Amino acid sequence: MDNKKNIVLIGMMGAGKSTIASLISAKLENFQYLDIDKEIEKLAHKHIPEIFSQYGEAHFRQLEHEMIAKYSNYSNQVIATGGGIVENNKNIELLRQNSVIFYLKASADELYARVSRAHQGTRPMLNHPNPKQRLKELIDRREPYYKSADFEIDTENKELVQIVDEIIEIYGKITG
Ligand code: S3P
Repeated sequence: MDNKKNIVLIGMMGAGKSTIASLISAKLENFQYLDIDKEIEKLAHKHIPEIFSQYGEAHFRQLEHEMIAKYSNYSNQVIATGGGIVENNKNIELLRQNSVIFYLKASADELYARVSRAHQGTRPMLNHPNPKQRLKELIDRREPYYKSADFEIDTENKELVQIVDEIIEIYGKITG
């Protein structure tokens, strides 16, 4: 099981990337859970909203890119990315080198319901007079890039365990 390709989860805020990545790593021996947002916070010694408010989005995207460049060389990681990694097309290209990339998909209504329920105020990209409209705009802009993932997983109306098993099954089939 050594030197296995990473499993990378991409998709919008509220897609469930962190929760699902952590559950996958718990099921797969020798795989570790890695959360790019958490690694950025550790490096900056600040929470993401503070990074955005103090240094701006461009600085956050630079840190995000550095983290992707670092971890894309690793193996045996289940990596949860931030929703905006596709804002820099080099990120996906770096990840592609040693990862199988899964796009976790859900509708705008479902994503908005999920981000409104949990972690309110922790997503600076939604600091906007009309956050739902903003979310829709981000989906429209990013979806073509998300769709360049190796696999698309519909997360709506599914239990977490179903999504986890679906990803593990696909990964197992293609990596042997
Ligand atoms: C962002 C998504 C967040 C985080 C940052 C920017 C985005 O991660 O990286 O707030 O641009 O969509 P999640 O997708 O885990 O919420």
